[in-house]
Amino acid sequence: MLTAVQVKPDVYWVGAVDWNARSFHGYTTEDGITYNAYLIMDEKVTLIDTAKAPFKDELLQRISSIVDPAKIDVLIANHVEMDHSGNIPTIKAANPDVEIYASAPAGVKNLTAHYGDLGYKGVKTGDTLCIGKRTLTFVQTPMVHWPDNMVTLDVEDRILFSNDAFGQHFASSKRFDDENDYSEIMKQARKYYANIVLPYRAQAAAAVKAVRGIQDQIDLIAPAHGVIWRSHVADILDAYEQVFTSGKLVDKAVVVYDTMWQSTDKMAHAIADAFLAEGVEVHLFDLKDTHPSDVMLYLMDAKYVAVGSPTLNSQMLANVAGFLTYMKGLSPKANNAERIGIAFGSYGWAPLGPKNVQAELEAAGFQLPLPVQAINWIPSQDQLDALRDTVRGIVTK
Ligand code: FEO
Repeated sequence: MLTAVQVKPDVYWVGAVDWNARSFHGYTTEDGITYNAYLIMDEKVTLIDTAKAPFKDELLQRISSIVDPAKIDVLIANHVEMDHSGNIPTIKAANPDVEIYASAPAGVKNLTAHYGDLGYKGVKTGDTLCIGKRTLTFVQTPMVHWPDNMVTLDVEDRILFSNDAFGQHFASSKRFDDENDYSEIMKQARKYYANIVLPYRAQAAAAVKAVRGIQDQIDLIAPAHGVIWRSHVADILDAYEQVFTSGKLVDKAVVVYDTMWQSTDKMAHAIADAFLAEGVEVHLFDLKDTHPSDVMLYLMDAKYVAVGSPTLNSQMLANVAGFLTYMKGLSPKANNAERIGIAFGSYGWAPLGPKNVQAELEAAGFQLPLPVQAINWIPSQDQLDALRDTVRGIVTK
């Protein structure tokens, strides 16, 4: 039987580990996913969030290792998305009298749309709920990353249940940050931010500011995905504040492309060489081998973004179009206004692939100091040298 893991005296992790998950909304999750739920054993037995519906048995087994699920008095639904709310009906079925709290109005409205009217009680920022020795305080964090998101502060235990904020898609048998590889969890925290939260940078920055205001009241940040921050609370807050939500771009170039007969590949390498010659950090990706969600890990704070495609049937390659669609959704104009974009690629009889890329970068709000860099058929060494010189000319110091 699966068991709970103690987080603090009378507070337990009772979530689920989705070891085999390799995609979340098309974002690659090479390390798997966890759906964290937390049980607080107080006068009112309280569950914070649930888990994705298929993990019903795992959730119930872990709860049952501490208490009969029928004895859960209070369920806090910090977020409507189904990876956390999927077993609300399960808990309601176990105890039809359970009180379910969600943010007002979005949480209540959207939970009703998902599961029907289960008698949800709406709460707003600053509202509190006494569950016995403990008092829970709610803080709404709208658009981090859905309209309904909120976090719950357990003042007595000094735990912030932060739901998606500060999460990572990272399956592990160890629940705490200091029990896992630090560089891997920070990488996954960054990838999670870049692929889930990035469009809502301003709202995330406001949420981080709110957490900073209560930092001296918390020992643990317990997100709904990945490890619980215990030894690295300051580090994850610093990363969110100084890197993820700062909007600061660094001198870094991402060169991303697809290629048919290696002409666009040759151009990509010439562009990468130009940045290297100017002392700019470079990351180069052929989209046949790298998923867009991994490119975003690097693109998130890159000052230069070069996107290349040859021309196929008057279009850019589908891999490139898919990448641009994905990137535009995550990185709206406000993020791109300070970035420098370059569109490049080869063609046989009309340079429509790279021209379409240029149009997409323009629509995404990039600065485009260069015209489309298109080369007919196979680039000569002279053409590659000229391309390198042209790109070197737009590197700003
Ligand atoms: Fe982890 Fe927005 O759900």
